[in-house]
Amino acid sequence: MGNPCTYVVFGATGNLSMSKLMPAFYHLDKHNRLQDEVRIVAIGRRDWNRDQWLEKVREAILPKARGGIEDEVCERFCGRLDYFKMDVLDAEDYLRLKTYLLDQSYSQNIAYYLSLGPDQFAPTVKCLGQSDMLEERSGWKRVVLEKPFGFDGESAKQLQKRLNRYLKEEQTYRIDHYLGKGMVQNVMVFRFANILMEPLWNRNYIDHIQITHAEDRPIGTRAGYYDTSGAMRDMIQSHLLQLLALITMEPPASRDAEDLRDEKVKLLKSIRPIPKNMVHAHAYRAQYSEGMVNGEQVPSYLSEPGVDSDSVTETYAALKLYIDNWRWAGVPFYIQTGKNMPKNRTIVAIRFKYPPKQFFRESQVKKMEPNWIVFGIQPEESIRIELTAKQPGLEIMTEQTSLDATLKGDDNTNYDAYEELLLDVIMGDRSLFLRYDEVKAAWNVVDPVIQAWSSETSYIDTYTSGSWGPEGSKKLFDHPDQCWRFHYTPECKK
Ligand code: BG6
Repeated sequence: MGNPCTYVVFGATGNLSMSKLMPAFYHLDKHNRLQDEVRIVAIGRRDWNRDQWLEKVREAILPKARGGIEDEVCERFCGRLDYFKMDVLDAEDYLRLKTYLLDQSYSQNIAYYLSLGPDQFAPTVKCLGQSDMLEERSGWKRVVLEKPFGFDGESAKQLQKRLNRYLKEEQTYRIDHYLGKGMVQNVMVFRFANILMEPLWNRNYIDHIQITHAEDRPIGTRAGYYDTSGAMRDMIQSHLLQLLALITMEPPASRDAEDLRDEKVKLLKSIRPIPKNMVHAHAYRAQYSEGMVNGEQVPSYLSEPGVDSDSVTETYAALKLYIDNWRWAGVPFYIQTGKNMPKNRTIVAIRFKYPPKQFFRESQVKKMEPNWIVFGIQPEESIRIELTAKQPGLEIMTEQTSLDATLKGDDNTNYDAYEELLLDVIMGDRSLFLRYDEVKAAWNVVDPVIQAWSSETSYIDTYTSGSWGPEGSKKLFDHPDQCWRFHYTPECKK
């Protein structure tokens, strides 16, 4: 259980707060992970009173409550909630908020959660700082920043500079919610708790690694953000590079936040920079056209409300990277993500090299199959190891078999990434939050691609909604026997 704390949620009436944060707080309460003193103060511009706010929260958690909503828990949870109307850009309002938090005798350990547009991070922190609300004389003060942190490397640097005036790095919690996912953490456990893996985890045995994140949903109501962002910034710069870092980093000295983040930074810095004239050999982008997803006809990206009719923003992005260190020299890493694909699915697929065939020379075995390790990150949480075995019968014939571990728990052990992260903020554990140098290193990886794409405004390839993405991305593969793997089970045999 965490400390007494007051969570002040800016942008509380917005989409993220309603769909993720409030349900996550509810589940933490249900599992007795919040101390009695924890209060959650929603900040919004709307002229709501507390009862109206409670009604909205109940509506939001109803469809999300695992195992159904429990009246008793809901009552207790609602007792923690409060609503405070203010304008986040009005300095005067911060003084009112400060007085209010004191008058209510709420805990002065305060976590400010900025569920706001990125352009509001710096002004909000400035107002908090100038109102003396980040001083830690009585109780700690922490600021949680949602992604995106910057628009590119340069803007991230400028943002950090502005935050530095009021906020210490130890008070800063930059969220990447992928780090709160159980299976993402399991990647680390699988690597560092099993001695079987370490000798194989390098360029001597691994042919390539690929990460696929597919979504069966469009951009929804987020055109304002998404049309200026695109898939490379939205998914690859943040979540998928984090995943790559956990899969490929050296073992950290400990699970301590700094040790873990040191290794991730080292890894991200070892990624070979993509030269300007090589962007097309390393990256591919496309946009969804109309099609059928889950049996329903859906419109093209250009027909989504709020999207410019001549937009070349990518809803699909693929990237090939190399990591220039001793462990990974020469191994290609392929990363792809797309919206409006046939299924929601995130997998990491690790393909090993072909074994030599000499033992089978005189047999009917034509070609040895490589081994694979496939992590199902979501929605299935699983680890699959593919091996070759002898087929039953008199002849020496081989077949592919697999060891499959399903890791998803039940309603009592499943949790959403935000639950873990909200609790870590209360506990002061920053290991699953990003340090500034990590964010910077990740921007350095994608910046050359983003720059090149931003100057190519006349054409973007398309893929049919409901398909697994554009054919053109296949050109990224180094060898003809490599191809995208979208499934846990192999569909990509050569
Ligand atoms: C968010 C992106 O950070 O992550 C969204 O902005 C994306 O565009 C989402 O859909 C994916 O998260 P998850 O947890 O649904 O895989």
